[in-house]
Amino acid sequence: MRSKCAMAISSSTSRTQDLVPLLCLLLMAAAAPQHSCASPPLPVTLPGCPDKCGNISIPYPFGTKEGCFKPDFEVLCNDSFHPPRAFIQMAGAKITVDDTYYKTNEDGMPDNDIGSSEWPIELVDVSVSEGKARVLGAFSYDCKMNDTYHAVRRQEIDLGYWMPFSMSDADDVLMGIGSNVVAKQTSGPQCQSYLLYQLSTRKTDDPVNGSCSGQGCCSANLRSGGMAATEVTIQKNTKDDGGFYGDGVSCSYAMIVDKSWYNFSSPDVDSDAFLRRNAAGVPVVVNFSFGVDGCPNASEPTPDDFACVSNYSTCIERPPVLDNVSIPYFCSCSAGYEGNPYIHGGCQDIDECARPHMYPCYGGKCKNTPGDYECSCPAGTKGNAKQAPCTDLFPLPAKISVGGIGGLFLIALMVFVVLIRNEKRKMAEFFKKNGGPTLEKAKIIKIYRKEELTPILTRSNFIGRGAFGEVYKGLLDNQLVAVKKPIDGNVAQNDQFANEVIIQSQVIHKNIVKLIGCCLEVDKPMLVYEYLSKGSLDDILHGSSGVLLTLEQRLNIAAESAEGLAYMHSKTGKIILHGDVKPANILLNDCFTPKISDFGISRLIVIDKEQTDHIIGDRTYMDPVYLRDGILTDKSDVYSFGVVLLELISRKKATYSDNNSLVRSFLDAHKNQKEATELFDKEIAKPDVLKILASVYEIAVSCLNLDADERPNMAQVEASLLKLKADLGMIN
Ligand SMILES: *[C@@H]1O[C@H](CO)[C@@H](O)[C@H](O)[C@H]1NC(C)=O
Ligand SMILES: *[C@@H]1O[C@H](CO)[C@@H](O)[C@H](O)[C@H]1NC(C)=O
Ligand SMILES: *[C@@H]1O[C@H](CO)[C@@H](O)[C@H](O)[C@H]1NC(C)=O
Ligand SMILES: *[C@@H]1O[C@H](CO)[C@@H](O)[C@H](O)[C@H]1NC(C)=O
Ligand SMILES: *[C@@H]1O[C@H](CO)[C@@H](O)[C@H](O)[C@H]1NC(C)=O
Ligand SMILES: *[C@@H]1O[C@H](CO)[C@@H](O)[C@H](O)[C@H]1NC(C)=O
Ligand SMILES: *[C@@H]1O[C@H](CO)[C@@H](O)[C@H](O)[C@H]1NC(C)=O
Ligand SMILES: *[C@@H]1O[C@H](CO)[C@@H](O)[C@H](O)[C@H]1NC(C)=O
Ligand SMILES: *[C@@H]1O[C@H](CO)[C@@H](O)[C@H](O)[C@H]1NC(C)=O
Repeated sequence: MRSKCAMAISSSTSRTQDLVPLLCLLLMAAAAPQHSCASPPLPVTLPGCPDKCGNISIPYPFGTKEGCFKPDFEVLCNDSFHPPRAFIQMAGAKITVDDTYYKTNEDGMPDNDIGSSEWPIELVDVSVSEGKARVLGAFSYDCKMNDTYHAVRRQEIDLGYWMPFSMSDADDVLMGIGSNVVAKQTSGPQCQSYLLYQLSTRKTDDPVNGSCSGQGCCSANLRSGGMAATEVTIQKNTKDDGGFYGDGVSCSYAMIVDKSWYNFSSPDVDSDAFLRRNAAGVPVVVNFSFGVDGCPNASEPTPDDFACVSNYSTCIERPPVLDNVSIPYFCSCSAGYEGNPYIHGGCQDIDECARPHMYPCYGGKCKNTPGDYECSCPAGTKGNAKQAPCTDLFPLPAKISVGGIGGLFLIALMVFVVLIRNEKRKMAEFFKKNGGPTLEKAKIIKIYRKEELTPILTRSNFIGRGAFGEVYKGLLDNQLVAVKKPIDGNVAQNDQFANEVIIQSQVIHKNIVKLIGCCLEVDKPMLVYEYLSKGSLDDILHGSSGVLLTLEQRLNIAAESAEGLAYMHSKTGKIILHGDVKPANILLNDCFTPKISDFGISRLIVIDKEQTDHIIGDRTYMDPVYLRDGILTDKSDVYSFGVVLLELISRKKATYSDNNSLVRSFLDAHKNQKEATELFDKEIAKPDVLKILASVYEIAVSCLNLDADERPNMAQVEASLLKLKADLGMIN
C-alpha cells in the first residue's frame, strides 16, 4: 500500500469543464461483473480424476472414469452436447415414459398406444456437503390436442430402491397443475387441483399466482423415506362444469419436483406453456447415502468401507428405511471445515476472517484457528465482537463522573459541552468545505460519519503509508475496507474534490481498485476503498510474504493490469493517465487478481509549488521522455508498465541509478544480441517456457522504446500478453 501517484487529463484546459463530459462517459461504462474466488481450490475428486463434465462439477463419490467413483456413482459425460451433459450410469437407473393417444368422448380405450421409451437420468448438480444431487425427472401430462384427441404421457423415474439414492422428502413434493386434475404417486400421496365454476357469475374461480394449494395447482408432501423409484400419474382430467379450457392445446400435469424450483403462474393452467418450457424435464432432489448400520459409534472400530474418510469429517444418519431395518448415513465436513468428506484430506479449515460476511467480527481482532476463529475486542473495550460491535469498557458518562467531583464536575461538563459544540460546528464546516452537499446530492457514494471511521484509525489497523497518507484496514458494513487518511499536502478544495470523488466512484472495472465512500467531516477528507488481502505486487515480489508466483499467475497479473490501464486510457473516451505505474500500485486480491490503485489520487493533492520540478511519481519507473519534456502521455504509462514487466520476469527490484538499473541490464543484453535468459527469475525459467519469457521480454523492450511513438499502446500490450497466456495454457 505504499504509493505515490499521479493522474492527469491529457488536455490542459480548465479542469471543471473537463469533468462534466468525463463524468457522463464514466457513468456509461459498463460495470464489470463481481469477481470472487476461493483461494486455493479444494480437491473434489480422487487424484488424477476429472472433476467436471462441461460446466457441472462432478465431486467424488461421483466420477466419470474407471477408478474415480464409488459403486453406483458412475457418471457418463456425453460431450456430443454443448456444453457436455452428465448422466447417471447406475444399473437400472432410467426414466420410463409411456405415451398414448386417447379419443375423446369414447369408451376410454386407447386409440393409439405409442408404447414406452426409456431415457437416461441426467445429473444437474451435486451438493456433497448435504449429501444431495439434483437430477432431471420427467413429468406426466394429459393434453387435449384438438376436439378428438388427447395425448397422455405417464412417467416413472427409477433410481433403484432406497440405496444409494432416495427421493428427498424434505426437498421434493408431488405437484399437480390443471383446472380439474388428481396427481398421484403410486402407493404414495395424491393431491387434487380444482377450479370451481360459480353458477352466479358463470365463471370459474381464478387461480392464485404463487400459491399451490388446490386452485389450479396442488401439492402434497412425499412419504418420508420415499424411494427413488417413483411413478406419477394423472388420474382424471375432465372438465365437467365450466369453460376454463383455453383455445388450442390444453394440458394438465403431474410430477414430483424440487419444491423450490417452480412458482405457480395462472397461464400454466390448461395450456401447453409448461410443457413447452420444460421439454427437457423438471429438477428433482435425491439424497445419496451409504451403509446399512448407521454411523459407527465412538467405541466401535470404523468399518473398512466407511465413506467418511477425511479428517475433520462427520457421519450423519438418515431416517431408517425398509421398515426400520436399515439406517443409511452420509458424510459432511465438521463445523469450521469445508470440502469433500469422501476423500482423504478433503475437509479443510475455513479461513473465517477472510469471509467477514458469513463470519462477522465487528471491529474486533479476527484470528483464524483450526475449525473456528477468535474475535476479540480491542483493549479498553468489551463485548462479544462476533455478535455486535465492542463497547467502551468505561462509557462516556462514567468517565465524566469519575473525573468530575463536585464543582470540578460542573466545570468539566461545561467545557465538554462547549467542546462538543465547537467540534460539531467544525465538522459541519469541513463537510461543506469538502463538497459534502454536492456529493450528497449525487447519492452515488457512501458518505461516512466521522464516528464511523475513527474506530478504525488505530495503531493495530495501520497497514501502510503512501503519498496520499496513512492507510488503515477496517470493517465497515460487514465489508473489509482500506481507509486512506491524508497526513500532509493540501487536499483540493470544495466541489473539485467532490467531483473527483464522484468520478472515481464511477470507475468500475475489475482491475481498478474501487472507491467505496468517503468521510468529509474532517479537515482533510478520508477515502474508503475496497480492501485487497494480498497487498501489493511489490510486497509479493520482493517482500517476505513467502508467496512465489507461478509464471501463469505473473502473466495473468500482467495481462489484467494492462487491461485496467487500457481501460482508463481508452474506454472512457477521454484519456485518464496514471502517471505512477509501479508494482507498489498494483494490488492483489485473494485470487491474485490485480487491481490498479491510486488512479487520480494525486489530483486531490495540490502540488506544492516549491517542489523542485513538479514531477511526482517514482523516478525508477519514469518515462525518460516525460522527464525531459515534462509532458505526461499515455505512452509514459506504457514505459512504466515495461519496467513492471521486467520486474515480473526477473523478480529483481528496479532501482533508479544510471549504471546499475534493471532496465539497463536488460537493454544491454538486448543491444548486444545476447540472450536475456540469465536475468530471468530462476524459479520460473524452466526450459519449456523460455520462449514465453523471451516474448514477455520483447513486449517489455517495445514498451521501453526511447521513441514514445514507437511504443505500443496499452490495449496492444494487453492483447500480446493475452496471447502469451493462451500459449502457456497450451504448454501446461
Ligand atoms: C451450464 O451451462 C448451461 C448452458 O450454457 C447453463 O444453462 C447452466 O446454468 C450452466 N450451469 C452451471 C452450473 O454453470
Ligand atoms: C451422447 O448423446 C447422443 C445424442 O443423444 C447419443 O446419440 C450418443 O449415443 C450419446 N453417447 C453416449 C456415449 O451415450
Ligand atoms: C387431432 O390431433 C391428432 C394428433 O395430433 C391428429 O392425428 C388428428 O388428425 C387431429 N384431428 C383434427 C380434427 O384436427
Ligand atoms: C411467485 O410469484 C408471485 C406472483 O407472481 C410472487 O409474488 C412471488 O414473489 C413469487 N415467489 C417466488 C419465490 O419467486
Ligand atoms: C433427505 O435429506 C433431508 C435433509 O437434507 C432429510 O430431511 C430427509 O429426511 C432425507 N430423506 C431421505 C429419504 O433420506
Ligand atoms: C399471473 O402472472 C402472469 C404472469 O406471470 C400473468 O400473466 C397473469 O395475469 C397472473 N394471473 C393472475 C390471476 O394474477
Ligand atoms: C455402540 O454400539 C453398540 C453395539 O452396536 C451398542 O450396543 C451401543 O448402544 C452403542 N453405543 C451408543 C452410545 O450408541
Ligand atoms: C489426517 O489423516 C492422516 C491420515 O489420512 C493422518 O496421517 C494425519 O495425522 C491426520 N492429520 C490430523 C491433523 O489429524
Ligand atoms: C419405525 O420406527 C418408527 C419410529 O422410530 C415407528 O413409529 C415405526 O412404527 C417403526 N416401524 C416399524 C415397521 O417398526
